[in-house]
Amino acid sequence: MKKILITGGAGYIGSHTAVELIENGTEIAVVDNLVNSSEESLKRVEKITGGSVKFYNADIRDAAALDKIFAENDVGGVIHFAGLKAVGESVSMPLEYYENNIGGTLTLLFAMKKAGVKKLIFSSSATVYGDPERLPIDEASPLSTTNPYGSTKLFIEQILKDLYVSDKTWNITLLRYFNPVGAHKSGLIGEDPKGIPNNLTPYIAQVASGKLERVNVFGDDYPTPDGTGVRDYIHVCDLAAGHALALKKMTAPGVHIFNLGTGIGYSVLQMIAAFEKACGKKLPYSICPRRPGDIASCYAKVDKALNELGFKAKYGIDEMCASLWKWQTLNPDGYKK
Ligand code: NAD
Ligand code: UD1
Repeated sequence: MKKILITGGAGYIGSHTAVELIENGTEIAVVDNLVNSSEESLKRVEKITGGSVKFYNADIRDAAALDKIFAENDVGGVIHFAGLKAVGESVSMPLEYYENNIGGTLTLLFAMKKAGVKKLIFSSSATVYGDPERLPIDEASPLSTTNPYGSTKLFIEQILKDLYVSDKTWNITLLRYFNPVGAHKSGLIGEDPKGIPNNLTPYIAQVASGKLERVNVFGDDYPTPDGTGVRDYIHVCDLAAGHALALKKMTAPGVHIFNLGTGIGYSVLQMIAAFEKACGKKLPYSICPRRPGDIASCYAKVDKALNELGFKAKYGIDEMCASLWKWQTLNPDGYKK
């Protein structure tokens, strides 16, 4: 059986997807330059699954390294997670973001073409919907972005659409993730943010563990039920399962686009309350000004993924928070020993 190459497989979503694929009997290889991850995550993937991961510590912008990987492995398809993802950093370092995310993707696509591998799943994001015109957000909604990170996702989507127009044998799936949170139930793998987390749930987890003093709630004057921002949080293991389903359904060439979310929006205050339940403590928070660039509400229309992939998220916010709390408690410093 052919292998699936996972770029960025040592990262947060990649490592959970690696577990899902190995448990489904799929052989994998991983390429990651560890710029935002550690090889320890892959050792833990092996521990959880009892399987093995062929790991290449390489940069996807390195064409020779990619050629070697395709030569050494009988690759049937690629799941492409590798990229930089911090919105604020992308505003101050746009060139690095374009170079890494778009440059890396182009080098990968050339290597795939050379190796005759034309099946690709790309990690896109709900960020490509910008400030949504309608809710829930369906896949045909207008696309726009507000920061260089988001622009890399939108441009890569366009590059992949153009590629398919030029060669109708490519089989491409764009998965637009909503807000991935939580961790594997073992507590062995999870999100390991560098420094102070930007995203809400890792921040809350560090307040719960005493590393940070209080949650800063960015705005309580949005047009939402309690005034705080509403998002569609999806358990990372559901997201991983979505990749396995998408892979299975990629039987015909084309560009297939799916939202991966739960379809349910929760507010910042609801997430804090859910986390309080998971960790059994009251969590201090302060209402702060809105964060520039944030939108009021964002949640997915999930019918397309349900009807065409058979994908439906299994886990609710209680499981998301409980699994994140387990990961945080067992690994207070992430993968650092
Ligand atoms: P992550 O940072 O944990 O994983 C990305 C991995 O890519 C890291 O292990 C990093 O070391 C690797 N990488 C980066 N540049 C590389 C390069 N040039 N060569 C080789 N490896 C490289 O992030 P994640 O949360 O797992 O996200 C995975 C993908 O999903 C990213 O493309 C991200 O933009 C996208 N995404 C993430 C979210 C989210 O909230 N986490 C939401 C939507 C989309
Ligand atoms: C952010 C990115 C988005 C990216 C996603 C996943 C921005 C503007 N958007 O989405 O492009 O795809 O992460 O990586 O950065 N919040 C607080 N306090 C905090 C942190 C967040 O109140 O300390 C609020 C935010 O205002 C928002 C919600 O919590 O309403 C979720 O925020 P976050 O986890 O950062 O995700 P997004 O902003 O949705």
